[in-house]
Amino acid sequence: MENGTIIRTTDLVKIYPMGEQSITALQDVNLTFGRGEFAGLVGPSGSGKTTLLNILGSLDAPTRGSAEVLGLRVEALPHKKAAELRNRHIGFIFQTFNLLPVYTVFENVEFPLLLLGMATAARRKAVMDALEWVHLADRAKSRPNQLSGGQSQRVAIARAVVKKPELVLADEPTANLDAENSHHILHTMENINRELRTTFLFSTHDDKVIGHLRRKITLVDGRVAKDEPGAGR
Ligand SMILES: Nc1ncnc2c1ncn2[C@@H]1O[C@H](COP(=O)(O)OP(=O)(O)O)[C@@H](O)[C@H]1O
Ligand SMILES: [Mg+2]
Repeated sequence: MENGTIIRTTDLVKIYPMGEQSITALQDVNLTFGRGEFAGLVGPSGSGKTTLLNILGSLDAPTRGSAEVLGLRVEALPHKKAAELRNRHIGFIFQTFNLLPVYTVFENVEFPLLLLGMATAARRKAVMDALEWVHLADRAKSRPNQLSGGQSQRVAIARAVVKKPELVLADEPTANLDAENSHHILHTMENINRELRTTFLFSTHDDKVIGHLRRKITLVDGRVAKDEPGAGR
């Protein structure tokens, strides 16, 4: 891939077998993303947004075609290499936050660093820095059930960016948030995008998110129907 390209899909197809029938979730998707983009996949429910994010995150495999992420062909990666790509280079943010309820905020954010084998002092600093970015340093000792939805998603953002990944994949990150919390987490992610040059790729059908995107890709029935500049700055 040429310099600055972080993702490239080539004729990507995903078909889910469903008994006698099958569902085509992605059809010949050809997309390229450069480092530092703040881009989103939009489109109605069932248009293939989550499927595409999951393939890029090496959580799912395409049926045909290829997806290169950070110079690696994800469809050809052995399990161990795929895990390394996810653990080291990609942060995930999900619609339902996916925090571990028995752990504190600090421990939830620390978790990805344990997978990387980072030393204790460095880990502590990285976790507290990440909690500062999302303005939750004072909640380090809280547990997820003591947080609001907006706070929970900010913890999930801290967990996604604590290892300073090149790429963050965020699947409908505001779906469970009210307007004020949605704006807050969008500003947080924009700041991280600017300061760390982290590439963000969203899936969303939330107008509040769409207004912040610098590039908007519309999927319809698993195809790229439109790829245009967004209103974000
Ligand atoms: N694991 C699966 N098994 C079968 N069909 C699936 C699976 N995941 C998604 N699909 C189907 O693939 C299509 C695209 O789904 P999805 O990527 O979740 O869309 P979106 O995120 O845009 O709502 C839908 O028709 C959905 O029902
Ligand atoms: Mg989805």
